[in-house]
Amino acid sequence: MITRETIDKVFETARVEEVIGDFVQLKRAGSNFKGLSPFSDERTPSFMVSPVKQIWKDFSTGKGGSVVSFLMEHEHFTYPEAIRFLAKKYNIEIEETETSNEEKEDANERESMYLVSEFAKKYFQDTLLNSEEGKAIGLTYFKERGFTNETIAKFGLGYSPESWDAFTKEALGKGYQLEFLEKTGLTIVREDGKHFDRFKGRVMFPIQSLSGRVLGFGGRILTNDKKAAKYLNSPESEIYHKSKVLYGIFHAKQAIAKNNNCYLVEGYTDVIQMHQSGIENVVASSGTALTPDQIRLINRLTKNITVLFDGDAAGLRASIRGIDLILEEGMNVKVCTFPDGDDPDSFARKNSYEDLVQYLENNAKDFIQFKASLLMNEAQNDPIKKADLIRDMVVSISKIPDRIKREVYIQECSRIMDISEQVLLNTLAQLVQKDISEANKQLKQEQKAFEVVKNENQVAQQSVDIVYELERKLIEILLLYGNIEEEFEDMLLKVNEDGETIEVAERSSFKVFQRIYLSLQEDEIELANETFKKIYNDLIALYNQENFTIENYLQQLDNEYSQIVTTILMNEEKELLHNWETKQIYVKSKHESIAQYVTETIVSLREYLINKLIVEMMNQIPESNEEQIEEIKTNINDYNKLKVYLTAKIGRIRSTYY
Ligand code: CTP
Ligand code: MN
Repeated sequence: MITRETIDKVFETARVEEVIGDFVQLKRAGSNFKGLSPFSDERTPSFMVSPVKQIWKDFSTGKGGSVVSFLMEHEHFTYPEAIRFLAKKYNIEIEETETSNEEKEDANERESMYLVSEFAKKYFQDTLLNSEEGKAIGLTYFKERGFTNETIAKFGLGYSPESWDAFTKEALGKGYQLEFLEKTGLTIVREDGKHFDRFKGRVMFPIQSLSGRVLGFGGRILTNDKKAAKYLNSPESEIYHKSKVLYGIFHAKQAIAKNNNCYLVEGYTDVIQMHQSGIENVVASSGTALTPDQIRLINRLTKNITVLFDGDAAGLRASIRGIDLILEEGMNVKVCTFPDGDDPDSFARKNSYEDLVQYLENNAKDFIQFKASLLMNEAQNDPIKKADLIRDMVVSISKIPDRIKREVYIQECSRIMDISEQVLLNTLAQLVQKDISEANKQLKQEQKAFEVVKNENQVAQQSVDIVYELERKLIEILLLYGNIEEEFEDMLLKVNEDGETIEVAERSSFKVFQRIYLSLQEDEIELANETFKKIYNDLIALYNQENFTIENYLQQLDNEYSQIVTTILMNEEKELLHNWETKQIYVKSKHESIAQYVTETIVSLREYLINKLIVEMMNQIPESNEEQIEEIKTNINDYNKLKVYLTAKIGRIRSTYY
């Protein structure tokens, strides 16, 4: 178990905006950051990070919480894993109370698969660097390819020995279970129960997630055996989804965000070689056709992709479809090819960093130019082919969601292909029309769904318990302003020089939490909602301690409560996020000062509770005897007086709640 001290230290050190910034491209928005939700496929940012409060909130899915809960949601980490991850990031040494034989057994299936994969990576690495066979065969091979020790270490490259089950034996000996070795595909279990290493005799490329977890492997064969595949990859599994992974993303993410561009290549070695040359914003689709999930992975970090194609034309044809997919996601795509026979790997190896950068700059064409140049070679003197080509270009253009961009590209296409814009626009209109009628259908359905939601909301809103609303407000105030010192006004009864009792306004300072506590205590009010009651009691107790921060509080809350607290904390930011939404969403009226807001809320709650009491008392009357009725009447009278007093105090706010 990780010690409390370590956990505290991690929370003190970790900055939510820094951690999340590694996964989501964040832009400043006032005192917050916003970005595209990593949990849904959205185009307008509704994901919010507050550096001040050290929390995050995703308005598109309703998720939110602390830095740790983000890692748990996003990376599917367990709590201890998230702590470990953060400790590693911030160079915090982890103290443990006891080590973890149990942990291994307890860890759930996915966890076990991650553990096995991590072990495999270390094993292959160790074999590459320290065994005779590994050095002689694997390391020599990588060296021949021009990889430095540093590069080999950075990408965790390894070697799987030329033996049927060397790895599997070692893993089993270390206590890893065959079940997970098989599920990750590292070991193949035959029907007769015999087991074999999948990657026997190959050099190994670990495939890592955005956060650096090992998901699977690619293994390259070293012989020229025509019958065996050059690369063998981990099979699909609980932790390895080929279509959602990009090789190199872990090492590239920062550079992608920083350069606001991502180079997309085909192979493992392309990524590695370019890194070694100094270009780090590069990932590979690993030989498969690009998928929308992969594009979205990049889309979180940048809007710009430059696709680098090998010099062979065969590869080109297949991958050209990927371009339309990128356009469909609303991203900007450029294309760069290499001289015949070269791929990014060989080209990067032959050229200096400066030459490589220069080459990429000079040769990256936007997709229209690229298509034109590529297909023109074949279509030059063939009108039919040329017409096909133009149509093909317009199809690509029609995929772009942004209308202005579409028109700009139409102009460019017209210029390059020497054909009138009008013809192109007509073709585009036909294509878009088709899309539009489909989109319309969908829109209508969405609108219907929205109507339903709206109606439900209205009904819900009407029936929202006023007490609930007010109690929620109190919690919100406590969370946001609890520790702030404010001046409050009280009406005190005093006897003046003439012996008359008069009311005198007196101002005095309180911390907001004290004021709330004292006011509620005065009426012996307890919050009705159990959740709010717990949070209220927690907060009052914590504010009484020194150095209390909301982050600390969030940290110790279990998930259910932490969700509620985060939602309340972030609700006020929502407005900021969707300016366009302000007309549709309920915006609470701005309070002139915190003190006033606190007073209004407390008084409203008191008033409401008094009303409720009065009604209850009236209901008792029919069942009471005369004596009791007298007493009830006196009580009602007293309460009515109090009500009048409260109403007078801030009469103008009553209408807000009734
Ligand atoms: N690939 C694969 N399985 C194969 C061949 C290729 O998974 N049988 C994937 C690998 O991810 C590889 C990428 O497709 O990196 C590109 O293939 P290719 O260009 O043939 O390989 P290179 O990366 O150029 O590999 P090398 O330079 O080692 O020959
Ligand atoms: Mn290659």
